[in-house]
Amino acid sequence: MYTQAMDVPNADDAPSVAAPANEAEAAAHFDARCAAGEYVEAKDWMPDNYRKTLIRQISQHAHSEIVGMLPEGNWISRAPSLKRKTILLAKVQDEGGHGLYLYAAAETLGVSRDELLTALHTGRAKYSSIFNYPTPTWADIGVIGWLVDGAAIMNQVPLCRCSYGPYARAMVRICREESFHQRQGFDSLQTMMQGTDAQRAMVQDAVNRWWWPVLMMFGPHDKDSQHSETSTKWGIKRISNDELRQKFVDATVEQAKVLGVGLPDPALTWNAERGHHDFGAIDWTEFWNVVNGHGPCNRERLAAKVKAHDDGAWVREAALAFSAKQAARAAA
Ligand SMILES: [Fe+2]
Ligand SMILES: [Fe+2]
Repeated sequence: MYTQAMDVPNADDAPSVAAPANEAEAAAHFDARCAAGEYVEAKDWMPDNYRKTLIRQISQHAHSEIVGMLPEGNWISRAPSLKRKTILLAKVQDEGGHGLYLYAAAETLGVSRDELLTALHTGRAKYSSIFNYPTPTWADIGVIGWLVDGAAIMNQVPLCRCSYGPYARAMVRICREESFHQRQGFDSLQTMMQGTDAQRAMVQDAVNRWWWPVLMMFGPHDKDSQHSETSTKWGIKRISNDELRQKFVDATVEQAKVLGVGLPDPALTWNAERGHHDFGAIDWTEFWNVVNGHGPCNRERLAAKVKAHDDGAWVREAALAFSAKQAARAAA
């Protein structure tokens, strides 16, 4: 469990890493440690680019957990039963917890939470583009659990072996909770599929809308992926985007059969020679449009996030005042 530190600049929070006498030698030693599968810890020397890559990746991951609470949070008050309401409430709360672990893991790299949040709130930092799609029906909530959390698990399980210790350890706990999220989504859809024709149609409609954006969650094809090569060298990324996407498609096709829903891709077929499913072409124009701020809900999500942060200012002030009071008491 990481500290959920308030963002108070503190001189001894910065990693106390002396510059190495011989940078080339230190870099070679670092690469060798990564290649040997060793964990890198916050106070170890690391190349600037490794630090930057991790700050970018962990903070984007943290932002995604937090912004991801918005589309589902909309449905907490409208869940169809007390049971579903409690499950959804627990799930959304988990996502908030994931965001906090991850901000804390990013802070160990010497960046402040304030800087990370400012980058998000001013649109400089990215979060997963999947959360810029709307959730007009209750079936969307089941599909988010089944497909969006399902894709997140595929992406995140390899991160439990990521070379940066604090990130890897945060991911172990997060992945356990993501499995529960995926199961609850599937269970909710299964219940609806055993219901009326209207319920089945609602599930199918939601699957049709989410399928392609979910496949985009794995990121651009390996040949077009900017950061993959160095991330792989340093043990940050262990399995490529295309391999993960393929694993997800293969697993999901079987689950869709159990549910009794179709997947909206006429090109989706089993390829016995490859031992995998073939699938149709992804519309990357849509992906880049959404990443660059022009998805159906980008503005709405960012505005809701900024408003929540502003509305919570008094909580941060009160917590700081309380901790100052406690420190003064301890000093006295
Ligand atoms: Fe999560
Ligand atoms: Fe989740």
